[in-house]
Amino acid sequence: AMGDYPDFMAKEIAEQPEAIERLLKDRLTPKGIRLDELEMTDAEIAAIDRVYIVACGTSYHVGLIARSLIESWARIPVSVEPASEFNYEDVLVSDHTLCIIITQSGETADTLASARKMHAAGAKVLAVTNVIGSSAAREADGVLYVQAGPEVAVASTKAYTAQMVASVLVALFLAQRNGSLGYREVSRRFRELERVPGLIREVLARAWQDEAAAHAFIGAGSSLFLGRGLNSTTAAEGALKLKEISYLHAEAYPAGEMKHGPIALIDPGFPVVVICPDDRVRYKTISNIQEVKARGAVVVSVATDGDQKIAQLSDYLLMIPPAPEYYVPIVAVVHLQMLARYVALARGCDVDKPRNLAKSVTVE
Ligand code: F6R
Repeated sequence: AMGDYPDFMAKEIAEQPEAIERLLKDRLTPKGIRLDELEMTDAEIAAIDRVYIVACGTSYHVGLIARSLIESWARIPVSVEPASEFNYEDVLVSDHTLCIIITQSGETADTLASARKMHAAGAKVLAVTNVIGSSAAREADGVLYVQAGPEVAVASTKAYTAQMVASVLVALFLAQRNGSLGYREVSRRFRELERVPGLIREVLARAWQDEAAAHAFIGAGSSLFLGRGLNSTTAAEGALKLKEISYLHAEAYPAGEMKHGPIALIDPGFPVVVICPDDRVRYKTISNIQEVKARGAVVVSVATDGDQKIAQLSDYLLMIPPAPEYYVPIVAVVHLQMLARYVALARGCDVDKPRNLAKSVTVE
C-alpha cells in the first residue's frame, strides 16, 4: 500500500535510507566485511583474474559504478556489458572469471541468458537481486539480496541505490580478501558508507529544490545531463529516469565529451543538468557549466553545500551535503529521481506506470 504517499515512486524514493540501513546491518565484523553470499573459497578468490558485470537499464548503470570501485579498490580488471550485448558477443569469460549479474526483479530475460552463458564458460555467477526466490536467485551460484523491499513503481529508485551499496560491499570484500586493502582501510570506508542513509535523508528534505528546478523542463523539447567520472553514470541514470517517466528526451554525456558534438544542441532555454560535486574534477566540470551557460542554457547543478562559484553560474541548484567522492553517486541520484518525478507530474504523466514499459522485461 502507498500509505501517506501520493504515488509508489514517492514512497520508494523515501524508503531509500532504511533500505540501505537494512543491507548494511551486521556486515562489518572484526574480520572485515561479511559476504557469505559469494560462496567462494580464498583460493578461488585469489584466482579471479577478471570480473564481468552484466545487467540491463538502471541495473547496468549500477554495474558501471561497481566497475570503478572494484578496479580501484580490488585492482581486478572489470568489464561491464548490457546483457543484450553480452549474449551475442565473443566474451572473455573463463573459470577464473567472477561473473556478477545485477537484476532488481531477477526475471530479466537477457540477464538470465547471460548467466547461462557464463555458466557454460565455467564461471561462477553471483546474482545481486531484490527478489527472493527469483529466477536469477535460483540459477546463480551465490545470491546477494539487496533487501530494498518490494519496488512497485516501474522506474527503479530504491533498488538502484541498494544495488549500488551492494556493489560497494562486493568491492570492499574482494579488496580485503585479495589483500589490496587492509582491515583499517576497509572498515574506514564501511563507516563512511554507514553515513550514506543520513546524507540521503538530508537530500530528501530538499525536495523543494527539485520541485523548483522542474520548471526548467516544462516547455523544453530535450535536455542534456553531464557529469564526470562516477558521476557520468549519475548523469546517465538521471537522463534515463527523466525519459522513462516524463517522456521528455534526455541525453547523458561525460561532461568533457560534450564539446565533441552535443554542445551543438544548446540554444537559449535548453535545460542542462550538471552533476558537479566537490571532487577532484570539479574545476573541469565548472568549465563545462560555463560553456553551456555562455550559449544560453538553463543550468541545473547538483553541487556540494557552500559552493558559491557554482551557485553564481547556475539557474537552479540541487544541493548535496559533503560526502566521500566514491559515495556521491548514491546520494546525488536521489535529487535526480525527485527531479524526474516532478517533471513527470508537471507534464501530467503517471509516474508509477509509464507507457510502453513493464516492471520486468521477460523477453529477450
Ligand atoms: C529503469 C528500469 C529498467 C530496469 C531494467 C532491468 O528505471 O527500471 O531500466 O532497470 O529493465 O531490470 P532488472 O534490474 O529487474 O533486471
